[in-house]
Amino acid sequence: MKIFGGSTSYKLARKVAEKLKIKLSSLEIHLFPDEEKRVRCVEKVLGEHCVVVQSTSINADKNYMELFLIVDALKRNGAKTVTAIIPYLGYQRQDHIFREGEGVSIEIIIKLLESVGIDKIITFDLHSVKIPELFRVPVVHLSALSLFANKIKQNQWSNTDTSLISPDMGGIRRIKILSQLLNGMPYAIIEKNRNLASGSISMIRAEGAIKRKAIIVDDMISTGITIARAADFLKKKGAEEMFVFATHPVFSGNATEILQRSIVKKVYVTDTIDVASEKYFPKLEVLSVAGVTAEEMRMHPND
Ligand code: R5P
Repeated sequence: MKIFGGSTSYKLARKVAEKLKIKLSSLEIHLFPDEEKRVRCVEKVLGEHCVVVQSTSINADKNYMELFLIVDALKRNGAKTVTAIIPYLGYQRQDHIFREGEGVSIEIIIKLLESVGIDKIITFDLHSVKIPELFRVPVVHLSALSLFANKIKQNQWSNTDTSLISPDMGGIRRIKILSQLLNGMPYAIIEKNRNLASGSISMIRAEGAIKRKAIIVDDMISTGITIARAADFLKKKGAEEMFVFATHPVFSGNATEILQRSIVKKVYVTDTIDVASEKYFPKLEVLSVAGVTAEEMRMHPND
């Protein structure tokens, strides 16, 4: 097996390769003055099972394009199979028509991924568990929830004064799984309303147990507004300390300032998206999904 890192996930690819005790293979990615790219395999890949790690967050279009070019170079040079590890699958939020007149972005992404010849996809904490069904190639849907559970256990937060909070109805499944991993930690779900035209967010009501310590769990943080609003809402409902666990640090716009200024005490995310050094803030801690990824590849190396 050969592992390659695209520009967005080079560090994660290196960590995964280290865990598997194999050398990270190299690619030549040339950037032309007009920002077109040329990808060249510098190693022999004929007959090899190849794995490419490339996240597709900001800038999603550019990062997807680089992934397509890498896969094409590997396939043209005789790779037997290509598995794409796309830790954060860009465009996943547009998985259906929300309002009349819209397209379905993820369907286009799926067509493109399949047409370049990807044989298998490994990804993390998708916005909807139904997304893998839209693919014809196999999709392995991994989760960072076990990492979150381990961290919560290490912090020794007890089930008597702590509850898990989903900041929207779409997170019910996620919160129930995490609760099970934590011996039935109580949980609550907030009903969030997002105005699709303006993008404004409001928290309407909550169902379930809100304890003194509240752990907000989400799949991603984009602008950070959901988290900031959820924390304010929880405070009004009696919570005193708020923590956040979210798999994907999309961190668009001034999300990191919003999070740092918010009343949450700490924000845990993962490296499904590489956090640039200028986006680090004091309340942030990044957990790595390298172990979970390497374990999956160890269990299913060539299928
Ligand atoms: C929404 O359904 C997602 O689960 C996240 O809550 C959302 O994408 C976060 O977005 P933002 O950080 O921009 O509020």
